[in-house]
Amino acid sequence: MGTYAVTGAASGMGAASAAVLAEAGHTVIGVDLRDTEIIADLGTPEGRASAVEGILEASEGALDGVAAVAGVGPDMKDPAAVMSIDYFGPVALLEGLRPALARSESGRAVAVGSNSATTVPFIDQTLVDLALAGEEEAARGRAVQGQEEVPDKVRAFAPSIGAYATSKFALARWVRRTAITPRWGREGVLLNAIAPGAVLTPLMLGSTGTAPDPDSFNTPMPLGEFGRPEEIAFWVHQFLRPEARFTTGSVLYVDGGTDAALRPEDLPTAMTP
Ligand code: NAI
Repeated sequence: MGTYAVTGAASGMGAASAAVLAEAGHTVIGVDLRDTEIIADLGTPEGRASAVEGILEASEGALDGVAAVAGVGPDMKDPAAVMSIDYFGPVALLEGLRPALARSESGRAVAVGSNSATTVPFIDQTLVDLALAGEEEAARGRAVQGQEEVPDKVRAFAPSIGAYATSKFALARWVRRTAITPRWGREGVLLNAIAPGAVLTPLMLGSTGTAPDPDSFNTPMPLGEFGRPEEIAFWVHQFLRPEARFTTGSVLYVDGGTDAALRPEDLPTAMTP
């Protein structure tokens, strides 16, 4: 049996992922702001460093898999915090744990992004570039500035939508460009991303806890229903299995068909000569 770290383990998809791994007999080291093994704020450099340190201590420096699930949503008021939590958090954690994954015979990592990366029309390319360059302070400033360009009526219900979608876009890009580097690929550590759509978790349901009608939701839901945390956890588990051997740098949509419904012709994208 293996040893796995799961961030966001106290709620939603992270809790469901931790449960699936534990049910399979693995040792699970949870990370969250509360109610799990390691309490750390992944929105700050200090919190990330202490999370990595705590995981390395608990795992004795060798891990079979990491699921970076923790995150916040577009309803968060501070776009800078969204950028720190949803992009810099998973990237620092995965980078920090890569050597421990390389010690496993079958190191696996999966990051939970969002289909908002490709279904929300407020991606800020400058912010993507700052994120990928690792410029956290500049990215935080740009996230606040960029949000001002989002129409007021959108900002009213999603005050950080631009930063949220852009952080998830940058995360997917980071996964694709990082997975194929020798430090990951040739060390046998596979790195993939999941792009969930609307999933019934506290993050989506907000303070009311009430699910909207899928047919009048603000994005198409071709299956006529929202996702459940267990459905994301299923794919997290698949990516982390030792048998998942020949896929890296992929982004899997687990979104009930929303991305396909909004952009049916955009994938596959033909390579230009
Ligand atoms: P959730 O709110 O149920 O769980 C998220 C967990 O992350 C919470 O336990 C929370 O305490 C933890 N967390 C938040 N900020 C943290 C921080 N600074 N440091 C450490 N832990 C922190 O939300 P859910 O829906 O399970 O979200 C999981 C991931 O899925 C997030 O990255 C979210 O952005 C993403 N997502 C969610 C969607 C949805 O419809 N629920 C859709 C697409 C992506």
